Amino acid sequence: MNVLVIGRGGREHAIVWALRKSPKVGRIYCAPGNAGIAQMAECVPIGEKAFDELGRFAREREIGLVVVGPEDPLLAGAVDYFSSIGIPVFGPTKAASEIEGSKSFAKGLMAKYGIPTAAYASFDDHGEALAYLRGRKAPVVVKADGLAAGKGVTVARTMEEAEAALKAAMLDRVFGDAGSRVVIEEFLEGQEMSVLSFVDGETVLPMVPAQDHKPVFDGDQGPNTGGMGTYSPVPHIPDAVVEKAVDTIIRPAARAMVKEGRPFRGVLFTGLMITPEGEPKVIEFNCRFGDPETQVVLPRLKTDLLDIMLATVEGRLADVRPEWSEEAAVCVVLASGGYPGPYKKGLLIRGLDRVEQSIVFHAGTVFSADGAMVTDGGRLLGVTATGRDLAEARAKAYADVEKIEYEGKHYRTDIGLKALKALDA
Ligand code: AMP
Ligand code: GLY
Repeated sequence: MNVLVIGRGGREHAIVWALRKSPKVGRIYCAPGNAGIAQMAECVPIGEKAFDELGRFAREREIGLVVVGPEDPLLAGAVDYFSSIGIPVFGPTKAASEIEGSKSFAKGLMAKYGIPTAAYASFDDHGEALAYLRGRKAPVVVKADGLAAGKGVTVARTMEEAEAALKAAMLDRVFGDAGSRVVIEEFLEGQEMSVLSFVDGETVLPMVPAQDHKPVFDGDQGPNTGGMGTYSPVPHIPDAVVEKAVDTIIRPAARAMVKEGRPFRGVLFTGLMITPEGEPKVIEFNCRFGDPETQVVLPRLKTDLLDIMLATVEGRLADVRPEWSEEAAVCVVLASGGYPGPYKKGLLIRGLDRVEQSIVFHAGTVFSADGAMVTDGGRLLGVTATGRDLAEARAKAYADVEKIEYEGKHYRTDIGLKALKALDA
């Protein structure tokens, strides 16, 4: 079967890499892809939201499955479009993607169905939001309602910071329309964990959990990014807590979406805070594979990914039992100097040919006119290694990180250390 993957990041590279292993997959195309994906799939220069063009291409190349990676095209109706022209497509509809596209929709759903999450209020009016905020205490969390590339959330340590975040979103409109509505949320303390699940309406198949590192600097310092690295498993969070999250959060959320007339099919990403009492609570839902969670989850998947995706699309997940490797995986993200602020592009990347023990998932790379691989984004590469345990996977990934060179190279040196320290203690 020929497959078309839509997207251009590390997540899509990991999806292409996993699909490549399936004997049932024929040609793989990626629109638009990146310089790394081009080494294992045919990249086609069509934008993620150019649906008519994508549809024509899919017909021409006899695509049997379209896989939509990012939230943007999902929220723009990619799945509704491909369904309407009769091409099987993996991902939630536009209506179901609202679980990520509108934080107030997601919070309302959780309130209605008793799904544990931080207490919150949402506002369209800056004056009302400010009055409410002044009745709260720091730390407090201010979130733009809509999509803001992972940057719309401020965990404010002081009231000044919280008021500034509110002003930036609602008055200065730094996130555009995404910030015309805000959610003000109770600050949750604890350990974060991401659980991605295959969902086909009622059936939920959780994948192995992962932990992301959002802040740009070691020790969780500095502004939030799309994610600076991940690891899986998360050994210091007991299996019973993960099971509790599935039973009290993820399955109820899938059932709630069916009841609301927005059945979810695809990957539901649940960002959790595990409180010091061991209670899982929702930080956010996303309507897609996580990035860079996918880069450590899919390398542990032993079952054919195409089979699971087709079962999801066809509503047969109840018959699927995915198998996972016992190995650990660590992904270290190499970013451009300055990210998540302004950064240079077009800088030569050297040393990828010397990488020995890792898979390098590309996120922001392109080939320049003269065929050299150059930087083209904030997050550039996800150096991913597996090993008997996290310590081994970490050692391998960081050994390869050292070999890659470009001007302004930035990465965190502490990916996975939280788990190792917790295990020691
Ligand atoms: P989000 O985009 O909603 O995942 O938020 C980005 C990051 O902000 C999360 O990964 C958390 O680290 C943090 N965060 C979001 N909501 C809360 C909350 N209610 N309490 C504490 N931290 C939060
Ligand atoms: N790593 C967080 C996300 O994909 O949203």
